[in-house]
Amino acid sequence: MANVKEVGGYKLGNLIIEGKTKQVFDVPSVNGHCILLSKDRITAGDGAKAHDLVGKSVISNKTNGKVFEILNSVGLKTAFVKSVADNAFLSKKCEMIPIEWVTRRLATGSFLRRNPGVKEGYRFSPPKHETFFKDDANHDPQWSEEQIISAEFKVNGVVIGKYEVEWMTKTSILVFEVLEKVWQTRNCALIDMKIEFGVDSTGELMVADVIDSDSWRLWPSGDKRLMVDKQVYRNLSQVTDKDLDAVKRNFEWVVDQLDHLIPPNNHLVVIVIASMGDKDHAAKIQKYCAELGLITEIRVTSAHKTTESTLDIVSHYEGLGVPLVFIAVAGRSNGLGPVISGNTDYPVINCPPGSRDDLSRDIWSSVNVPSGLGCTTVIYPESAALAAAQSIAMHNYIVWSKLRLRRLGFFEVLGKADKTMRN
Ligand SMILES: Nc1ncnc2c1ncn2[C@@H]1O[C@H](COP(=O)(O)OP(=O)(O)O)[C@@H](O)[C@H]1O
Ligand SMILES: [Mg+2]
Repeated sequence: MANVKEVGGYKLGNLIIEGKTKQVFDVPSVNGHCILLSKDRITAGDGAKAHDLVGKSVISNKTNGKVFEILNSVGLKTAFVKSVADNAFLSKKCEMIPIEWVTRRLATGSFLRRNPGVKEGYRFSPPKHETFFKDDANHDPQWSEEQIISAEFKVNGVVIGKYEVEWMTKTSILVFEVLEKVWQTRNCALIDMKIEFGVDSTGELMVADVIDSDSWRLWPSGDKRLMVDKQVYRNLSQVTDKDLDAVKRNFEWVVDQLDHLIPPNNHLVVIVIASMGDKDHAAKIQKYCAELGLITEIRVTSAHKTTESTLDIVSHYEGLGVPLVFIAVAGRSNGLGPVISGNTDYPVINCPPGSRDDLSRDIWSSVNVPSGLGCTTVIYPESAALAAAQSIAMHNYIVWSKLRLRRLGFFEVLGKADKTMRN
């Protein structure tokens, strides 16, 4: 790999660092960025076992690109910018925190050795989180949160303290859960995985390094015997060309699965308003829906005055055959939501408009519904959007991930504010 001068049209600067599987180069033309060039190399046991594997760099770069595109698309901050060649990608240049952040759903591998008595397959809920100091010579010793804080790592000007460690812990679990959901759509169980964090030149902490078939355990159909990850390689006592070929075919299979991920965009949130007077309220709901990645349409109809057209609208959307939620916006006596609810099997959320005074009187028409109706009622546009998102999220990993990220956002905003007050 020596003397690479240019990759994907980018002139390479200095080699910043070279590890077991990648070289990291400066990119003079893009300030604050670097290029990560994968090697055709597979290693295990902190480098004790290592083999050349032609084609691995391309497979790894593809896997990593797909995974990070998903993470970026749901709104997570990561160092990954874009793939620039078969075997290389452009990334924010980070100072890395030398810790591996491991998240596990099922107990297996080293966890069993470190926790005698625990049976393989023990299910962690919430996922189990562990940290290891990156130190090949000492076999990456496990570190506690207290050890990481006490190390007082300073990376690109940021001192890694309690808040940062908690943020990385929460983010590791989030990344695991998002990718677990993604893999569920391919009927694969994500068993555990590791990620790394860095701080870029602007002082921002983010997920960096790579996520590929070296990073996780992945069991198709949840069956350990079908594993398609690097464990297959770790388990080999003698490594023949045929074995390496099998490892490579597994990794290729993983890329193929990621290639066939179907972005679950086929859903609809129909905001039904009873008159044009409710249009601003609907627009607010629509804005919150858009932030959560929901596709919306607004329709106007009165259940009291144009009952047939109300039922027509309901039938039209039911006929599309996509996951569906109705949000009914009607002031005074809300016939709209309850009528839709009595004539569909999809969720109906009432979100009546109006001032507080109107609402305290009108709300009962949404709440005290006839028996046999399952519509729910909220009064804030944001709540309506969230309730719709939670329904859609059950079969949509993108919307689910956006909801999940929103909760990390609460921790971020309050955690940073708290840190500011304490300083
Ligand atoms: N965005 C980035 N900016 C700077 N360095 C990075 C970035 N992403 C990963 N690195 C670092 O690149 C080095 C090479 O990667 P790798 O070959 O996986 O090394 P290792 O064998 O230490 O795991 C690692 O030290 C890793 O932390
Ligand atoms: Mg590495």
